[in-house]
Amino acid sequence: MPDDATRTVLVTGAGGGLGRAMCEEFAREGYRVLAVDLDQETAQGGVDAAGALGGPAAGFACDVTDPESVARLGRWATEERGGVDAVINNAGIFEGFLDIDTITPERWDAVVAVNLTGPFLVSRELIPSLTERGGGVIVNIASIAGMVGGAGGIAYTTTKHGVIGLTRELAYNCGERGIRVNAIAPGVIEAGVSLPLLNDPSRSADMTAKMQEVPARRLGNAREVARLAVYLAGDDAAFVQGAVLPIDGGFTAV
Ligand SMILES: NC(=O)c1ccc[n+]([C@@H]2O[C@H](COP(=O)([O-])OP(=O)(O)OC[C@H]3O[C@@H](n4cnc5c(N)ncnc54)[C@H](O)[C@@H]3O)[C@@H](O)[C@H]2O)c1
Repeated sequence: MPDDATRTVLVTGAGGGLGRAMCEEFAREGYRVLAVDLDQETAQGGVDAAGALGGPAAGFACDVTDPESVARLGRWATEERGGVDAVINNAGIFEGFLDIDTITPERWDAVVAVNLTGPFLVSRELIPSLTERGGGVIVNIASIAGMVGGAGGIAYTTTKHGVIGLTRELAYNCGERGIRVNAIAPGVIEAGVSLPLLNDPSRSADMTAKMQEVPARRLGNAREVARLAVYLAGDDAAFVQGAVLPIDGGFTAV
């Protein structure tokens, strides 16, 4: 692999709260950034975040739930952009706190498709080219809802547990090829999918009370999560394999 400063990272969900912070932090480290999101306009949010630091970046529209769309992404990344060294499976959706009594099969399928099938399809598409390059890194964005029950609703919680299983199985399958696969489990971050909850007056008091039980006594921010992704993608994490790193202010520690 080239050294950290000339590597290419592909970020899915790049136009979202965490995605934009990741594009920015990878650009800060000198990575070329491939910003991927559902449509070109949203992907451009990631390109702009990387470009604000002068980093070379390009955007691509891809629905990570659609195998043909992901195949097009793979061809673009490898044939037109020269391949990638790191893949951040960050795209995800949150269905609210729907539980077994309130979720519909359609909503369940939609969450499974984005949160679980998406990282599977993108990894499956890009692992051959990472292998050809002699190795690489995959970072899957899970959640504290992937480690405990009660933190996300039934479909979100189930898919994020699945992302951790996917991470461990890929680490087992791909370690020998020089591919490291790890997961990040963010707690409540003041960005993206958490914002509607934090801004919902009927929930915000409950969220604030919950935060008072977290050792850090505060919410996380997107940059903190992005810096962990940068660490996992880089050579300082060369022996970190199949790990799930919570970044939650201690939420899962107590
Ligand atoms: N914000 C938090 O508190 C928090 C906590 C734990 C985990 N996470 C995880 O972090 C990741 C990023 O979430 P965020 O908070 O930035 O939310 P966000 O909604 O701001 O960003 C998610 C991005 O994914 C994209 N996306 C959705 N469906 C897609 C699809 N089918 N194909 C391609 N892109 C698609 C969206 O367009 C959006 O830009 C998610 O996996 C989420 O579950 C977030």
